[in-house]
Amino acid sequence: MRWWYGFRKPKPTIQIIGCDVAGIVEAVGNEVTRFRVGDAVYGDLHASGFGAYAEYVCTNENHLALKPEALTFEQAGATPHSSTLAWQGLHGIVELRDGLKVLINGPGGGVGPIALQLLKQRDIEVTGVDNASKLEMMQSLGFDHVIDYLQEDFTRSGKRYDIIFDTKTGYFPTRYLQVLRPGGSYITVGGSTPRLFSALILSGLIKRLSGKKFRLVGLRAAQGLEEMAPLFESGILKPAVDGPFELSQAADAMRYYLGGTQKGRIVIRVSTS
Ligand SMILES: NC(=O)c1ccc[n+]([C@@H]2O[C@H](COP(=O)([O-])OP(=O)(O)OC[C@H]3O[C@@H](n4cnc5c(N)ncnc54)[C@H](OP(=O)(O)O)[C@@H]3O)[C@@H](O)[C@H]2O)c1
Repeated sequence: MRWWYGFRKPKPTIQIIGCDVAGIVEAVGNEVTRFRVGDAVYGDLHASGFGAYAEYVCTNENHLALKPEALTFEQAGATPHSSTLAWQGLHGIVELRDGLKVLINGPGGGVGPIALQLLKQRDIEVTGVDNASKLEMMQSLGFDHVIDYLQEDFTRSGKRYDIIFDTKTGYFPTRYLQVLRPGGSYITVGGSTPRLFSALILSGLIKRLSGKKFRLVGLRAAQGLEEMAPLFESGILKPAVDGPFELSQAADAMRYYLGGTQKGRIVIRVSTS
């Protein structure tokens, strides 16, 4: 990440951290066409220098969308980055249809629950793989099967899936190939950098030799938020919120996140009054 964010310390443009944001538009530039002062919006600042841990942010209109009315600001602030990763990973890459068997690896964070809710709009059987402390929560979210990754290696189980959706790529691509059904797809949004590079380099060859797809998702800020708005309005997609913390507790919130026991996206509430 140092290539993007600075070798020795964060670049001057990244003095304030924080990606996801929700709030009210206070001012717009002359060429802004999509928003007016007073609009409630939410978005992802990762492509415009971060800065969400603050009372005010300044960003490109393309990195924002109108906030669905059904979402509170706290829910909306918990949503953009993880929901767009799930959306971009599952739309335009694979055809979702009834009867598929899908495995989500590492769904105990922010991306997996939204991916599950998108998949469950159809009659799709979904297996989730995460650590033991997350399995009960995953069952309550609607996973059909759950696996503790410390007890069972899903790449050796003999079961086959049409799609593997991974937030924690940790194996060489051949390990995933053997778990995919013919014509299946492996989609990853993150994981070990050397493993991701090997998947990237070998994806063309894998497709030619096996007919199976390997795709790495490079997040495009806010893309998919408008398409998902009706799903948030109707309650099909429900962001999981942990918190809120106050801005003055931001360091505690980060420590809590690093502990890995959060149940949903950690939200920091900022008051401008
Ligand atoms: N593609 C892009 O452009 C882009 C942009 C931003 C972020 N990302 C990536 O997207 C992912 C974000 O997902 P997230 O926020 O939902 O993830 P997250 O908060 O990092 O949570 C992932 C879950 O996976 C579990 N896990 C760890 N190792 C595992 C393993 N070997 N097998 C199965 N589960 C495992 C974690 O449990 P433990 O508590 O045991 O660790 C955790 O519950 C990250 O990998 C991030 O780097 C990608």
